[in-house]
Order: sequence, then C-alpha cells, then structure tokens
Amino acid sequence: MTKKDKHGDIRRELSVGEVAARSGVAVSTLHFYETKGLIHSLRNRGNQRRYPRGVLRRVAVIKVAQRTGIPLADIQAALAALPHDRPLTVHDWAALSERWRASLTERIEKLTALRDQLTSCIGCGCLSMEDCPLRNPYDTLNARGAGPQLIEPT
Ligand code: FES
Repeated sequence: MTKKDKHGDIRRELSVGEVAARSGVAVSTLHFYETKGLIHSLRNRGNQRRYPRGVLRRVAVIKVAQRTGIPLADIQAALAALPHDRPLTVHDWAALSERWRASLTERIEKLTALRDQLTSCIGCGCLSMEDCPLRNPYDTLNARGAGPQLIEPT
C-alpha cells in the first residue's frame, strides 16, 4: 500500500530532495550512489530526477552495509544482481544481510588475530623479519630459502 505524505500526496516517485529528507542522506551522496549504479532514477518532462519510492529501502540497505564496513564495490555488486524495477524485498535483505554477516565475521576473526599478534609485540620492539608476526606476516622471504633474501645477487 502506498502511504500518503503530509500533503496527501500518493505519487509513486520522489525528487532527490524528498529522498534526501526521508533517508537522511545528503543529495550529493545520492548523486554519488547514482553514478556508482547503486540507485537509479528516471527523468521527468522537466529533466529532473525522479526516484521510485523503493529507492528509500535501497538507500537504507546501502547505509547499513556501509556501517558494517562492507566495501562499496561489494555493495554495488550485490545490488547489481537484484532487479531495479521493484523495491528490495524482505527476502532480498535477508540474503544480503546473511552474506554480509559472514563477511563481518571473517573480518572480526582477522582483526582478532591481528590484535593478538600485536599483543606479542608490546614490550618487545624487535620488529624482526624472523620473529615478529606483524613485520613478516606471511613469512614470504622464507620461501626463497635460508639466509639474506633482500639483496639482489650481482
Ligand atoms: S616487535 Fe617483536 S615480535 Fe613484534
């Protein structure tokens, strides 16, 4: 059911100012989202942008995803896979939030490991390529063999 606004307006499309006011997102940010393909508008006869009301739900999803640290490129890819001619459904949001929850969990685990490694550096100060897990996290030089590896042979 389409809700009437405070003027009793039941239009299905919103101006960029209305979207900004209702979503709490700046007009410039909405334009940025549009250039990135995150939201879409149509032009009216006066060549002004008009957004379907479903854009409000899409903007809400973008803001929540950004709040959880999901990169804009990932948000873009996820939204691009969904149809633009209908509002995001509860099912769409459930699928997206489940996917992004897994991403958030993975980042938390990586940050926790990083914190634990940093804890071992506190009071040490060696910054050794051999011993410090943060200085040489993947021990990349070890694969080249024993001995000094940073000096090119002449
Ligand atoms: S500074 Fe010594 S282990 Fe990181």
